[in-house]
Amino acid sequence: MAVAGVQDREKLVHFLARHNADLVARRGELVDATTRPALAVTGERGELRGVLTYDIVGDECEILTLHVEDQWTGSGTALVAAVAPIAAGAGCRRLWVVTTNDNVDALRFYQRRGFRIAAVRPGAVDEARRTLKPQIPPTGSYGIRLSDEIELEQRVAAPDAQAPGSPPRTGVAPAGTAAAGTAAHRAAPPGRASTEVDALRQR
Ligand SMILES: CC(C)(COP(=O)(O)OP(=O)(O)OC[C@H]1O[C@@H](n2cnc3c(N)ncnc32)[C@H](O)[C@@H]1OP(=O)(O)O)[C@@H](O)C(=O)NCCC(=O)NCCS
Repeated sequence: MAVAGVQDREKLVHFLARHNADLVARRGELVDATTRPALAVTGERGELRGVLTYDIVGDECEILTLHVEDQWTGSGTALVAAVAPIAAGAGCRRLWVVTTNDNVDALRFYQRRGFRIAAVRPGAVDEARRTLKPQIPPTGSYGIRLSDEIELEQRVAAPDAQAPGSPPRTGVAPAGTAAAGTAAHRAAPPGRASTEVDALRQR
C-alpha cells in the first residue's frame, strides 16, 4: 500500500476536522495537528483514505493523529510503518503515541505493532475536557467512560542498523514531501505554542 506525504493542506484540514482530530489534547497541552507533517494513503481520485500526522521534537517522534476511512484493511499499518524510517532518518530514538482508555482497538493495534505501554495518566482526559477541549465526549468507544490517557512507545532503530543492501522497510513518498526524514521535520511549525508536547484526543 503506497504512502505519501500530504501536500494539500486544505484536504488535510478537512480530513482531520471530520475526525475531530484537528486539535489534539494530551499531556495537558493542545496542539494543532493541521500544522504538522502528514502522511496519507489516498484513493483513486486522490482523496485521503487514511492520515497520520506526526511531530518530531528532539530525538522523539510523536504520532499525533492516525485515522483511516476503511478500517482493518491495512492502511493504519502502512502509515505507522512509513513514519518509523522518517523518525529514524531524523535521528529519533523513540516513537510514541497517546491514546485513551476507551480505545481498546487502538491499544490492540499499537501493541500488535510492537508498541509498549509507557505511561498511564488516570483522569488526564477528564482534565483536558475541563480545561482544553470541551468537545471531548464523556463517553468513548464501546460505551466506555472516557477519562484516561495511555501513552505507548516503540524504540526506533538507527538507520544504519539496517543491513547493507536490504530493501527499504516501507514505501514512502519521495524527497520534498512531508515524508522525507530531513531536518525540516525538526523545525517548529508556524503557530506552535510549545516545544513540549501537545494535547490530543485521537479518535
Ligand atoms: C486504529 C486504526 C488507526 C487502525 O488502522 P487500520 O487501518 O484499521 O488497521 P490495519 O488494518 O492496518 O490493522 C488491523 C489491526 O488492527 C487491530 N485491530 C484492533 N481492533 C480490530 C478489529 N475490531 N478488527 C480488526 N483489527 C483490529 C489489530 O491489531 C489488527 O491487526 P492484527 O490482526 O494483526 O492484530 C483505525 O482503525 C482507525 O482509524 N481507528 C479510529 C481512530 C483511532 O482510534 N486512531 C488511533 C488513535 S490513537
